[in-house]
Amino acid sequence: MNKHIAVLAGDGIGPEITAGAVEVLRAVADRFSHTFTFEPLLMGGCAIDACGEPLPAHTVERCLSSDSVLLGAVGGPKWDTLPGDKRPEKGLLGIRKAMGLYSNIRPAKLWKALADASPLRRELVAGGVEIVVVRELTGGIYFGERGKGSDAVMGETAWDTEKYSEREIERITRIACELARRRSGRIISVDKANVLESSRLWRKTVHAYAGKYYPDVTVTDMLVDNAAMQIVKDPAQFDVLLTSNLFGDILSDEAAQVTGSIGMLASSSLGDTTCGLYEPIHGSAPDIAGRDIANPIATILAAAMMLRDSFGMQKEYAAVEHAVEETLAEGWRTADIFSEGTKQIGCREMARRIAEHI
Ligand code: IPM
Ligand code: MG
Repeated sequence: MNKHIAVLAGDGIGPEITAGAVEVLRAVADRFSHTFTFEPLLMGGCAIDACGEPLPAHTVERCLSSDSVLLGAVGGPKWDTLPGDKRPEKGLLGIRKAMGLYSNIRPAKLWKALADASPLRRELVAGGVEIVVVRELTGGIYFGERGKGSDAVMGETAWDTEKYSEREIERITRIACELARRRSGRIISVDKANVLESSRLWRKTVHAYAGKYYPDVTVTDMLVDNAAMQIVKDPAQFDVLLTSNLFGDILSDEAAQVTGSIGMLASSSLGDTTCGLYEPIHGSAPDIAGRDIANPIATILAAAMMLRDSFGMQKEYAAVEHAVEETLAEGWRTADIFSEGTKQIGCREMARRIAEHI
């Protein structure tokens, strides 16, 4: 197959980790006789530096006409004082919205070789853990009305609005139900329905939709504060975790850490077409950028998800996952997942070793 992939390396460690993922994708192309072409594009802080805006129109246009998009990470202290709509993160939110990527899947799994990297007691994770966070990605407080003002007595004010519609909730519920059907048949839907009106609509809509179209899927509700606790108390109870944009952002970091390192967690974002966006869930880690110590595995696994979810390449997906497993089993580790008795290597060498296993 011929596939054209847009690459948004972004900022901080973004260029290093996407280079690693591209190397692995090239190895996949060789082994399975595909032709992948890669088109580097600007988004985030690097785009602000080059053209004064985080998401140039050219980038949007090229992403929309590519077969899929690979993304590193955006942001850094250099751009932290810019107004909200000029920040690098605005570029990321903008591309998600422009591509209509309402469904964000973040599988946090405990890799056998990394059981010791979990900060939880061994017996809590001994039976294996795999939490697949299904995060709504183009609605909620990230995209609701916001503003700033002032109050004579209290001083400056600022607000952001959490707003969801039935259709938005239904389409992400459908994604979670489809996934649950292929897995345990169970969904835990996380909200804050004891306080928020938007959460009460969320809860009602999830049940109405799943009950009507997926009666074989069991949906249980959990309040977000309790979910945050349950993830560290008994992570094995979760399988598919369905939630809103903001709660998904927060809980996916927590789930990632529970399963070892945030440097291992990939994500796929899709809408109604096969052109998706694939990225690690971690940030641009400016403190370690350019030092060849970042973990490229999350981005490599994101590339694998692209092969499977955008291109329908199941064997190729499995080959990448297997290559990561083999490399870990041989004892190779980047600094974030290093433990006594394993061998520490840098970002480039990790990517090269994984590519060699393809
Ligand atoms: C993520 C990130 C982004 C988000 C930021 C960088 C805007 O934290 O993908 O989880 O909040 O969605
Ligand atoms: Mg996040």
